[in-house]
Amino acid sequence: MVCRSPVELSRLRDANRLVGRILDGLRRAVAPGVTTAELDALAEEQIRAAGAVPAFKGYRGYPATICASVNEEVVHGIPSGRALGEGDIVSIDLGVRLEGFYGDSAVTVPVGAVSERAAALIRVTEESLWKAIAIVRAGARVSDIGHAVQTHVEAHGFSVVREFVGHGIGAALHEEPQVPNFGEPGRGPRLAEGMVLAIEPMVNMGRPEIRIQRDGWTAVAKDGSLSAHFEHTVAVTADGAEVLSLPPGDGRPGPSGVAAGGARTGLQPARS
Ligand code: MF3
Ligand code: CO
Repeated sequence: MVCRSPVELSRLRDANRLVGRILDGLRRAVAPGVTTAELDALAEEQIRAAGAVPAFKGYRGYPATICASVNEEVVHGIPSGRALGEGDIVSIDLGVRLEGFYGDSAVTVPVGAVSERAAALIRVTEESLWKAIAIVRAGARVSDIGHAVQTHVEAHGFSVVREFVGHGIGAALHEEPQVPNFGEPGRGPRLAEGMVLAIEPMVNMGRPEIRIQRDGWTAVAKDGSLSAHFEHTVAVTADGAEVLSLPPGDGRPGPSGVAAGGARTGLQPARS
């Protein structure tokens, strides 16, 4: 586990802010009739225009720039000509490499009007990410993150996917430590100032089990229930977390934990 120097942190800030900006544009582009391949093309174009490189494309043979996971798809859905339909939910995961450093973030977006249950799943999953971010500070334990996610998710009757975890991130997309979204608090390594983590809860409406489809990538909820995914890359500070993957001008947590304000509308985390 690496603590980043100020120069490395500033590179990670740039890569992740780019991810935040592009992801925010993709979120706004989601509408009935739009295909996930169109979102993928938009993402790749903007990444390359910024002088960056898609981080997922070619990673272990992954064929696209974004992961686009619709409805019961949990993560790693491959973009296709499938058009999104009113009432669907779509999880968009985006990674870039810029100047040798990685950015990684994901959101789940409603397509048009969705059911109340689907909206609740999205809201609770995003809230669980912010509950986790709220416990990040130097001296906290890695397992406190998963505990915060699991506690919030299960209090709302949803379930945490176990097969995939968050991760350290820096000069590689996946670094130590693994960051599970479940478990007992107070275990595992302590967080230290300058560590950078991608925290990414995946939450199913029904049972937590998943299976991988025959394309070798797409993870789906075994019981066919809806699934949501949110991810932010955060830097550990002495007294909180700096969320690196927010779009510019977002106004949410800066260097000292959960900030006041937040001018953005839409998928706003509850700060309870
Ligand atoms: N955010 C996911 C992760 O960090 C996305 C990886 S997709 C892959 O694991 F194609 F790169 F595997
Ligand atoms: Co990730």
